[in-house]
Order: sequence, then structure tokens, then C-alpha cells
Amino acid sequence: MNILVVGRGGREHSIVMKLSESEHVTRIYVAPGNGGIAGEATCVAIDEMDMEGLVKFTKENAIDLTIVGPENPLNAGIANRFYEAGLKVFAPTKEAALLEGSKSYAKEFMKKYDIPTAASATFNSVEEAKQYIDLKGAPIVIKADGLAAGKGVVVAESVEQAQEAVNEMLVTRAFAEAGATIVIEEFLAGKEFSLMAFVHENHVYPMVTARDHKRAYDNDEGPNTGGMGAYAPVADVSSEHLAFATEEILQKTVDGLMKEGRPFTGILYAGLIMTTEGPKVIEFNTRFGDPETQIVLPLLKNDLAHVLVDVMDGKDPQLEWEEGSCTGVVVASEGYPADCDKGVRIPEMSSVEGAFTVHAGTKLEGGSLVSDGGRVLLVGAKEDSLEKAAENVYEALASVDDMKGYFYRRDIGKS
Ligand code: AMP
Ligand code: GLY
Repeated sequence: MNILVVGRGGREHSIVMKLSESEHVTRIYVAPGNGGIAGEATCVAIDEMDMEGLVKFTKENAIDLTIVGPENPLNAGIANRFYEAGLKVFAPTKEAALLEGSKSYAKEFMKKYDIPTAASATFNSVEEAKQYIDLKGAPIVIKADGLAAGKGVVVAESVEQAQEAVNEMLVTRAFAEAGATIVIEEFLAGKEFSLMAFVHENHVYPMVTARDHKRAYDNDEGPNTGGMGAYAPVADVSSEHLAFATEEILQKTVDGLMKEGRPFTGILYAGLIMTTEGPKVIEFNTRFGDPETQIVLPLLKNDLAHVLVDVMDGKDPQLEWEEGSCTGVVVASEGYPADCDKGVRIPEMSSVEGAFTVHAGTKLEGGSLVSDGGRVLLVGAKEDSLEKAAENVYEALASVDDMKGYFYRRDIGKS
């Protein structure tokens, strides 16, 4: 098979690494890829949002299967465009991807199908939003309806902070149109975990659980980010809770989507929180998580290309997982998640046995690798235990002489 991967982050690098192990894969192309991927696959300079360019490339290069990483092309209808052109793509249509593209749609959908989630209300009016906050009190959660790269959520600890978030989204338009509608949600306390699954129509094949560390700084302080590190599997999720999340959340969701005439093919990701009443949905993503993918795929024993083909053919891929643990720590540019400098030299670390490096925001400039975004690398390790995996990762990171311009969390895998 010739495979095209669409995207440019760590998630896509990790998909490429897994596909490279496949005996079914002849050539891997990535559009547009990044500096690290360029060493392992053929990067082609086509933007993720250039649908016509991607369709043309796919036809001209005998691509058998396209895998889409990021949410923006999914919500813009990349899968619809590929289906129209008669091309094979492992990705949901824009109608199914709305589950991630609109938080108000997702909330309405969950209410309709009785899927456990936080109580919420949707607003366009500043006044009504503020009245609701006054009524409910703090803590309370304010979310931009549309896509905001994981940054459109404010967990407000006071009514004032919540009102300020409303102003930022509805008045100053900090997230442009994505924040023209907001969802205000009950604050849920509990430990979070992510559950991703390969899905085709009403068939759900769950992966191992993962835990993302979303806040920028140690001890879960600082602003929300796209994710600063993760580990899998999560020991504190019991098999009962996992079965509940699979049946009452993932299965109900894909069944509901079928009923709505929006059948789902691709990766369904449930961001969950373990409340005293059991797991509840914090968010849905309709794609592989980043950085979860980088630490979940190394634990998959199956051939990824084979899994995707089986799932799309309606066959059970018989997923098998390694017994050990995998963890990964993101190296981010200073200032992330706000805008940060690009073009900074990529730190070099000595190789530590069992540790691997995934590239996210890197590019080649005059033959050297430099930074090209907020999250730059993920250093990961797979070991028998989570403790040992984390030890390897931090040992590799400690070997870097010069971390100038970068930072990483020191407590990934500890909670
Ligand atoms: P999201 O982008 O919707 O996953 O939200 C980002 C982060 O905000 C989540 O990982 C949680 O840590 C936090 N969060 C979102 N919604 C809630 C909620 N209803 N209660 C508590 N924390 C939340
Ligand atoms: N790690 C969360 C996400 O992919 O949105």
C-alpha cells in the first residue's frame, strides 16, 4: 500500500513511525509533514487545507489510503471531498466531525442520547451568559463553541473570572468566529483520562486508556495547552469504568451518529473525567489525540495499516496491546501556549536505551533542524513500568546541554 498522512505534528510523526513497521506499506507520504518526518517519509509541500491539491496528489501517486490527523481539514470536509472523488480515506465526514467542531452540537447530541456529561447551556448573548453565571456561581467552565486548538476553555474559579472569559470570547472575540457562541458548563471534579477508538459505523474498537497533562506547568498550573505530555495505560481506571465508557459513551455515541444520518469512520476520542457518579464526557475529538497518539501507538502490537483496512472493511481487527507502559514529555517553545519565537535550534540529546523522539513543530532550514511552533518535540519511552519509562524520558532530557528557548514539565506520569 501507498499511504498519505495529512498533517504536520507529533501525532502524524508517530503515525508514520508505526506505519513504517508495516509489511503492507510500500511508500509513506506526508502533507506537509515536518523536519523530523522528512527523514522517514516523503514530505510533500501541500497544506492540510488544500483539498484539491491533496485529491490531485492522491490520484497521481496511486495512494491506496489517506489518514487525516488534524481537526481543521476534517471539519472543512476533507473526507467528503475524498469520498466524492472515489478515494479511500480513514476519516469522518464533516457532518460526523461536528462532534468536535461544535461543542454546542456535541452537548445537544449527548443530551439527546443520554450520554453522561456536565450540565450546560449555550449562549450568544453576553447579558444572558452573565446572568447564567450569576445564577450558577463558581467554579464554572466557559468554552468557545468552535475549534480553538485546545485553548478555548477557561475553568473559572470565580464569577469575575468567568465574566471576563465571556467578554474575551463574545466581545473581544479572542477566538474569532469559533467563540461567537459559547457553552457554559458545570465544573466537574475528578481525574481525567482519554479513550480513543477505531470506529467504522456502529463498530467500536477501543485502544488503551491514556492520560494527557493539559496545563502548561508542573502541578497542573498555568494555562490549558494542546497537551504537555501523556502516559498509557492509566492504572486508576478500573475495568468496570472502562467497560462503562466503552458501552455507555463510545458505543452510544456511534449508534447515535448513525441515527442522526452521520455515520462515523475514523478515530473517536472521548476526553473523560472520573466523577463520583462514574466517567463523564469533557469533550469529543474526532481524530487521534496529540500527544496521546505518540504514547498509545507504541503499545499497539498489530500492524496499523492492517488494522485500518480491517476496520473499514467491517472486520474486527483483533487489537492486541503490550503489557508495559509508555510515557512522553513535550518539549515546548518558551511562551507556549501564547505565540512564541520560531527558528530556534532544536535541542540535541544523547540516546538513552528505550527512549524515542517524535518531532512536532520542527523544520529543516539550511540543513539544520529549527523550531516551527509551540510544541516542538516529544521524548517518549516504553518500558515494563510507568516509573521506568518516565525515568528513561527524563534521563534523555537531562542529557541536553542547552535547553535555551524551551521548557518541559518535570512531573509527567506522576499523577
Ligand atoms: P477541553 O478542551 O474541552 O478538553 O477542555 C480542556 C480542559 O479543561 C480539560 O482537559 C479539563 O481539564 C478542563 N475542563 C473542561 N471542561 C471541564 C468541566 N466541565 N469541569 C472541569 N474541568 C473541565
Ligand atoms: N490531547 C488532546 C487533544 O488531542 O485534543
